[in-house]
Amino acid sequence: MKTNAWQQDQEYLTLVGDLLDQPAVQKLANYTQHHHSDRLQHSISVSFDSYKLAKSMHLDYKSVARAGLLHDLFYYDWRTTKFDLGSHAFIHPRVSLRNAEKITPLNDMEKDIILKHMFGATLALPKYRESLLVSLVDDYEAEHEFFGPLRQKVDGWFRKIKVRASI
Ligand SMILES: [Fe+2]
Ligand SMILES: [Fe+2]
Repeated sequence: MKTNAWQQDQEYLTLVGDLLDQPAVQKLANYTQHHHSDRLQHSISVSFDSYKLAKSMHLDYKSVARAGLLHDLFYYDWRTTKFDLGSHAFIHPRVSLRNAEKITPLNDMEKDIILKHMFGATLALPKYRESLLVSLVDDYEAEHEFFGPLRQKVDGWFRKIKVRASI
């Protein structure tokens, strides 16, 4: 993996380093998430981009960084594994929360961020602005990874998020 911005951000690494060291997190690299990325890369992107935004918006960036990294902590191929209990959009946040609780204590906001990250596809309303932020970044990253490198669009998008979040 080439050196990325998150690898040079000491504060970010301090916040999530213990999680990145966990085999339960590292094994996300074995799962394809979208065409251009594995689930670990996707989780780090969502976590780091959400962290940067949360910081600039004076939100709880620590909870955002940690829960963002754990929001897709599940180990199956969502394109082939189906559940009787509900859709992938409904099930995988619950599976991820259960797996996350096995590796670290979670505060109420972190739990909400993981559980509500499919807001839009599922009805449960985010309790915190931080949860909404991670959900929006996750949506964006899915598209970004699918269509390839479109980083130049990020600045304009960041501005939109700031406007929306300040309402
Ligand atoms: Fe997800
Ligand atoms: Fe995701």
